[in-house]
Amino acid sequence: MKSLEELLDDLAAYVDTPEESCVSLPPDAYLSPDLNALEVRAIFERSWLCVGREEYAPAPGDYYTIDVMGEPVVIVRGTDGIVRALNAACRHRAMPVVTGRGRARRFVCPYHSWAYATDGRLIAAPHMEGSRVFSKADCRLPEYCLESWKGFLFVNLDDDAEPLQVSMASMDHATRNYRIEDQTEVFHYETTWDGNWKLSAENSMEYYHHIGLHARTVGVQMPAGGTYFPDHPPVDHTYTHERCMIGEQYLGGADHPLNPRGDLSGLTREELDTGYLVYVFPAFTMAMRAGANNWLSFRPDGAERTRVLGGYLLWKDLVSSDPEVAAARAALIERVNEEDALATTELARTMRSRKAPRGPLSPFERTLAQFYKYLGRTLARHGASSRGRVRPG
Ligand code: FES
Ligand SMILES: [Fe+2]
Repeated sequence: MKSLEELLDDLAAYVDTPEESCVSLPPDAYLSPDLNALEVRAIFERSWLCVGREEYAPAPGDYYTIDVMGEPVVIVRGTDGIVRALNAACRHRAMPVVTGRGRARRFVCPYHSWAYATDGRLIAAPHMEGSRVFSKADCRLPEYCLESWKGFLFVNLDDDAEPLQVSMASMDHATRNYRIEDQTEVFHYETTWDGNWKLSAENSMEYYHHIGLHARTVGVQMPAGGTYFPDHPPVDHTYTHERCMIGEQYLGGADHPLNPRGDLSGLTREELDTGYLVYVFPAFTMAMRAGANNWLSFRPDGAERTRVLGGYLLWKDLVSSDPEVAAARAALIERVNEEDALATTELARTMRSRKAPRGPLSPFERTLAQFYKYLGRTLARHGASSRGRVRPG
């Protein structure tokens, strides 16, 4: 297997390589534990990661737990209405104070019954009188940075992270007509795929694979050949995107389960007649049509497993006025996601081959070239700074 230094050199080379001259990543980039460790440290422990939606915790006391890069996190809407991401480890001897999901007025640790309010404050600690190192008033579950974007919840493990909006502003502008903030989930998707997260990422930023993987689902309505790149390139490199002109036979509102329905005012002709893929670095993707959004968020679980969280969203007013649309779309999207899973699990196996390729990218895969450049810029910098000196802690 290539060393970390060799892989970082390969990644750094993408930065100045023209997009049309890029080949796919070296196969070892999908297998290397060393590269994965650097990605975790340099990317996932300091970037905004989508951990779900506000609607997963709609009422005071609603909570759900999630592992975020090994951190035990409980997302909870406090009795004050504020959603927080709290560390779920009890401040006594670290038992998770809560698991799963539900609604609670307080979290009572199952080990020695310390109790916490939904904002993390310690409110009870039996039999602690006499301890000289305990102060109830100073004790609370630590909080992670959490911010909301149009109904999505993002966590950043870096306590000094820049506001989420800094990394979302450019993409926010490009997607403004889609009214993402008015959408609600009609299909939930949460699983683990065997394979490196970058395989999942790459698959979710191009329409080229509609010609094969989705030939029997969405490949006819959104054919690979309809791929094109919007005029406004993502100049700040926070995301990458591409569009797909829908098949001629589906233009003008012809019947297809995925054709836009509901209040379509405010959308341009282009937005009505195309699919729009937006991939926000490092690991959040939205595959959109007017009024609909098939989103996924990826988190590596080691070099060879990917935690996948996602769902299919529709405009709320469409769901209430036409519930059958929601059911039909959900069934289709479930099939599409299972097809997409193969792009991680099947490729993960062939990457082990001693003859695994570094193949040429199609012009339809410029988004992958931009992703590789992002990796090159981000990782080569951190790799270089961590080489040759001892890192504290
Ligand atoms: S570990 Fe929670 S009360 Fe002891
Ligand atoms: Fe796909």
